[in-house]
Amino acid sequence: MKSILAEPTQSELTIREINILKSPKKGGSSDMDAAPYIEELGITIPENIQPIQFTPNINEHIHRWAPYVQGFSASFVQSILDQNKKEYPCPVVLDPFAGCGTVLVQAKLNGYISFGTELNPLLQFIANTKLNCWDISPNYLLKVYNDLPKNNCSSAPSFLKSSSHFNKGVLRNLETIKGGIESIEAKSEKQRKVKDLIKLAFSSILIDCSNMKRTPCLGYHRDKKVYDSAPYILLDKKIRDIANDLRLIQSQYRDFMNTESKVILANATDFEHTNDFDLIITSPPYMNGLDYVINYKIEMGWLGFAENHKELKSIKDEMVVCDNVSKGLIKDFRKSGSTYTNDWIEEIKGDIEKSIEKRGAYRRTDMPYIVHKYFDDLYKVMKKVISSLNSGGRFILVVGDSLIADVYVPTDLLIAKIGSDLGLEIERIEKARERRSGQIRSYKLRESIITLLKR
Ligand SMILES: C[S@@+](CC[C@H](N)C(=O)[O-])C[C@H]1O[C@@H](n2cnc3c(N)ncnc32)[C@H](O)[C@@H]1O
Repeated sequence: MKSILAEPTQSELTIREINILKSPKKGGSSDMDAAPYIEELGITIPENIQPIQFTPNINEHIHRWAPYVQGFSASFVQSILDQNKKEYPCPVVLDPFAGCGTVLVQAKLNGYISFGTELNPLLQFIANTKLNCWDISPNYLLKVYNDLPKNNCSSAPSFLKSSSHFNKGVLRNLETIKGGIESIEAKSEKQRKVKDLIKLAFSSILIDCSNMKRTPCLGYHRDKKVYDSAPYILLDKKIRDIANDLRLIQSQYRDFMNTESKVILANATDFEHTNDFDLIITSPPYMNGLDYVINYKIEMGWLGFAENHKELKSIKDEMVVCDNVSKGLIKDFRKSGSTYTNDWIEEIKGDIEKSIEKRGAYRRTDMPYIVHKYFDDLYKVMKKVISSLNSGGRFILVVGDSLIADVYVPTDLLIAKIGSDLGLEIERIEKARERRSGQIRSYKLRESIITLLKR
């Protein structure tokens, strides 16, 4: 009999596991692999460790209305605004990848005008609701919520597997709440805003009520016990939190209630801005990051932002690519050719190609072109927004680097290089956080804050 302590033989391992075991990158770090690129740019990367992720926002007014794993922390955005306060006492701010609107909400809390673009209609809706319902009376919100009819059931989205996503009793309660929300009249602006606030609250409790978890990708949570009453308990709490925050806004931020802030449903690669900006603060999708559409399909379906999988796919196909982009899109990219490349990108593409050849198999053999399209997309966004950045303005990005098929991709340094090609000065690049590579857990990646200056 085989000992349970015996090492698995190679034939028992998957190709992926064998590659991980044999990887020359085990125990490595991006700090080591980035050295030649850093030297070529003539910079250093000091540490500036700080919480840049969304997690602390669950306790922050307004930001807590909707959880968003991929969001910024509000305190990080505030620190950037504070650093620039001397030069820009009242900047116009842009976030081209606005997500749930953390940058814009924080800008508005300072009384600054802000704009954003976002491709996911659910996130655009969440951001705009967080930004533009500050004048709604908390008592009116509570009254409309308490008066929601309970006899007007509305079915779960037909294209989703709702009976697996939710327990039977939970699903029935969610359908009752959905029907109640749909029956709210929205003829006046005030009614529409209240309805939006309740819809936002409803969207933000769906995953907590489900048999799923988001860590950060959406998946089933086997041991989760959800009571049938969860939708009502969670929604009550969320509505009370929103009402309390409205009270706070109306007493402490009254002067900023009408400050212009909006997120436009648009593709940042080709959107023509009509405003000029002093500060661009953003975090683009990460290359080996997650799918910003499939991960939110439950909320998108329940709120009516997608009626089928085809609609979800067409939103996803417009986004800056991640590593599960459709093969057809990459084929088209190869055929039509890129807008941008540089010697680093070409070398990295060649190295990935060789590494995949050596391995004999890889999850995506078109990976070199996925990497190229990622930077091509970012180039387009950067070119567009830089043309609307005022002289003396700053473009600040937070991004993480990647390890792909044992090839290090210095995403932060490449973005800085693109910025420099587009005429910006690389003011500084700081290391904000260390991460572990998803493929080789012992390999340390970096998450950086890149500050580019337009002279
Ligand atoms: C890292 S998240 C930004 C999160 C944001 N900082 C926040 O705090 O909510 C990147 C966002 O970019 C959006 N996105 C991806 N490609 C886009 C494009 N081409 N145009 C506009 N938005 C895009 C995604 O939907 C996602 O919400």
